[in-house]
Amino acid sequence: SSLKIGLLPGDGIGHEVIPAAKEAIEALGSSIPKPEFVSLNAGFEYFARKGVALPEETVQILKNECDCALFGAVNSPSRKVTGYSSPIVALRKQLDLYANIRPVVSVAENPEDKPDVDLVVVRENTECLYIKDETTTIGPNGREARATRLITERASRRIGKSAFELALNRPRKSNVLSITDGLFRETVRFVPKSIEPVGKYDEVTIAEQLVDSAVYKLFREPQVFDVMVAPNLYGDIISDAAAALVGSLGLIPSINSGDSFVMGEPVHGSAPDITGKGIANPIASIRSAALMLHTLGYGDAASRIDRAVNQVIREGQYLTPDLGGSAKTDEVTKEILKRI
Ligand code: NAI
Ligand code: MG
Repeated sequence: SSLKIGLLPGDGIGHEVIPAAKEAIEALGSSIPKPEFVSLNAGFEYFARKGVALPEETVQILKNECDCALFGAVNSPSRKVTGYSSPIVALRKQLDLYANIRPVVSVAENPEDKPDVDLVVVRENTECLYIKDETTTIGPNGREARATRLITERASRRIGKSAFELALNRPRKSNVLSITDGLFRETVRFVPKSIEPVGKYDEVTIAEQLVDSAVYKLFREPQVFDVMVAPNLYGDIISDAAAALVGSLGLIPSINSGDSFVMGEPVHGSAPDITGKGIANPIASIRSAALMLHTLGYGDAASRIDRAVNQVIREGQYLTPDLGGSAKTDEVTKEILKRI
């Protein structure tokens, strides 16, 4: 059998880092089913040429043929462009990839040492302010702009379950931090009682924190955090903040996952400031590939990639400029491939 993987580099450095992730998967050899890659269109560059940001063909191939996918990044125009809407937001919706999972882990100097920062942000991926329901009216104070924030019980329950599952399967720390409000908070709290078998999550403890103090604490004491579950917008902010703790956005992977599909995606954007220079850090994409494989049940293959990446970071000789080095994307990738 084979593993069919959709590749959606998108825009900008997506074209430079997704090929690196592909090579890392190929370097695994027979420890995973033979990978078969299919290149798929999506993004602003494609929109500029063809007038559509996410072609229906891409969605159909992902749904009907692929086992999983890797997404690079897309440009979002800063002003509204008629007819354009973000393909990543649409993909999360159409494939129902409701959990955005972002591990943030620092690399300890010695492989035996525990990393300082070792946490995972579990971000709800389908609702909150990101449903983009905005209106303007004229009121006594001039123009009034409003956005609707949608939190549903169903989405809060399933993201809560994802967080509890993760918390159960990680080496233990003392806290699950749950940053929540209203329905989200109640629903996540109720997950242990609402999902069979009752008692499954008994070892997971919950600590609640408001988003502002959580970010403060994240910077002061990152080591206390283990799994952080949050609605979409808070989760976005917390995970970018957490990324700053370990050096560079170019290091942080994520997956968008649902019940039947998983899509790896580096946390960073399309980085127009460095596009075409060959210096984008490929590590976030390579780690996203590992995370994707881990989720599909290929834990050993994923660990091989992660160990190779950590070795290269630790050795410090082949680092891209975002980490203070002078290596090119290709050189870093080559060193990682050797170690896989
Ligand atoms: P960005 O993540 O693209 O870049 C922020 C800074 O980090 C830049 O200085 C960039 O050079 C650097 N950087 C990012 N990834 C890097 C890597 N792999 N290696 C080395 N340096 C790296 O965020 P920015 O500049 O705010 O957004 C640029 C474009 O990307 C915008 O159009 C934005 O809408 C889009 N974007 C897309 C995302 C997605 O597709 N999911 C997520 C975030 C931004
Ligand atoms: Mg973001």
